[in-house]
Amino acid sequence: MNPQPLGNKVALITGAARGIGYGIARRYAEEGASVVIADINQTLAEESAARITAETRQKALALRCDVSDRANVDAVIAQTIAELGGLDILVSNAGICPFVEFLDLDNQIWQKTIDVILTGGFNVGQAAARAMIAQGRGGRILYITSLSTIQAGSNQVDYAAAKSGERMLMASMAGPLGRYGITVNGIAPGVIYTEMGAHHWDVTEHRTAFEKSNPRGRLGEPKDIANAAVFLALDESEYITGSTIRVDGGHMPIG
Ligand SMILES: NC(=O)c1ccc[n+]([C@@H]2O[C@H](COP(=O)([O-])OP(=O)(O)OC[C@H]3O[C@@H](n4cnc5c(N)ncnc54)[C@H](O)[C@@H]3O)[C@@H](O)[C@H]2O)c1
Repeated sequence: MNPQPLGNKVALITGAARGIGYGIARRYAEEGASVVIADINQTLAEESAARITAETRQKALALRCDVSDRANVDAVIAQTIAELGGLDILVSNAGICPFVEFLDLDNQIWQKTIDVILTGGFNVGQAAARAMIAQGRGGRILYITSLSTIQAGSNQVDYAAAKSGERMLMASMAGPLGRYGITVNGIAPGVIYTEMGAHHWDVTEHRTAFEKSNPRGRLGEPKDIANAAVFLALDESEYITGSTIRVDGGHMPIG
């Protein structure tokens, strides 16, 4: 196996200042890639990029990016190419989950969730695809979706709707981009312990009940998603496109 399978690649990961996105960025850097931490939280993005460079000796660039703002996204892609010499891998990971019950949802929360997850996913996916086509060396686009695309929850109505749209955005992009050597895939995490859901999983009864019911007996960690994200980013994964890998410890064994 190549000791640095992502050597010479440039990877941009949205929402990578912390959580799953950070785990993917850190692992990509370990595998030889230069990484862009594109996050709305610039201060944290800069701290995270500095840590990755210190620990892996790879280039890590922190760029302030609101994925729902197309002009901002286009500028981030342009700066990535100008500073790192190209773009080979995009991971559309930025997301929010307000956890509001259906009858309490208002239009503002609804719209914000749609803007970040669905419109943001379109913005970064199309901008990256155009840049990859112009470069002419193929590419890898990954969407971090959710089990919410196949399992409903009363306090995740906006989130499930946005994530389901994102899943079909991913699948629909695979066709037009295949001829350019660009693959587009999804990773659907189960429960991954990050700040997004920590308020729930830090309650001992919640965690214990989950650990009893999950076939692997534990919550997921960002590294579990990073492992799948490395696999899908490899040159050798070039015939996998329009697919989703569920990474959930067997939580939803639907084949
Ligand atoms: N943690 C889980 O259990 C879980 C499960 C399924 C799917 N996911 C998905 O994985 C992704 C990462 O989740 P996480 O658990 O690491 O969450 P997190 O809240 O820890 O991190 C999300 C990151 O996205 C950034 N962000 C938010 N809005 C943004 C915007 N408009 N533009 C750019 N960046 C923005 C935040 O600043 C933060 O750094 C999300 O898409 C989430 O929906 C998470």
